[in-house]
Amino acid sequence: MLPAYLPNPVAALCGGGLPVDLGRNYSDGKRLLGDGKTWRGLAFGILAGILIGLVQIWSAGQFGWAYLPQQTLLTVTLLSVGALLGDMVKSFFKRRFGKDRGANWPVADQFDLVAGAFVLLLIFDPQWLFATVTLPVLIVILIMTPVLHRAMNILGYMVKVKEVPW
Ligand code: CTP
Ligand code: MG
Repeated sequence: MLPAYLPNPVAALCGGGLPVDLGRNYSDGKRLLGDGKTWRGLAFGILAGILIGLVQIWSAGQFGWAYLPQQTLLTVTLLSVGALLGDMVKSFFKRRFGKDRGANWPVADQFDLVAGAFVLLLIFDPQWLFATVTLPVLIVILIMTPVLHRAMNILGYMVKVKEVPW
């Protein structure tokens, strides 16, 4: 899951500048995505996810970590791109529900990246998804994700990278 988990904190660290929606509004008069989704965050986030995935692939071969899932360039790309696509789809709906940028939206804020990554895997590499994410693996992911999410956001708030601790 590392290639899916890393893009969000990296986007928070490197984000800023031109927003993905270019500042445009949707037909409801509210922002399409908001200032929290930027091209720079998207690019650096995706790059970081793919890079950590390549490190995983390299180290699995190097140290013979056969018990780790066999990642490929395709799977790490889908995990990374999917994580931030899921994040943007969430922000789209967050704006439609009238929630401001950075507002707390329980469940959606925590699982957007998992949903996005799994949807892309389901479309482009379903064999890998079903072979890798078995029921016990899924349960671990569902427990681990909100815990890591909360921990990272508190850390991000403490080092003043994030404006809110969620
Ligand atoms: N970020 C970014 N580009 C992205 C995703 C995130 O620049 N594609 C940066 C933004 O600075 C953002 C921060 O990372 O404020 C934290 O991300 P997130 O919590 O997902 O955004 P929010 O500001 O909470 O916005 P939203 O309410 O739309 O989720
Ligand atoms: Mg947020």
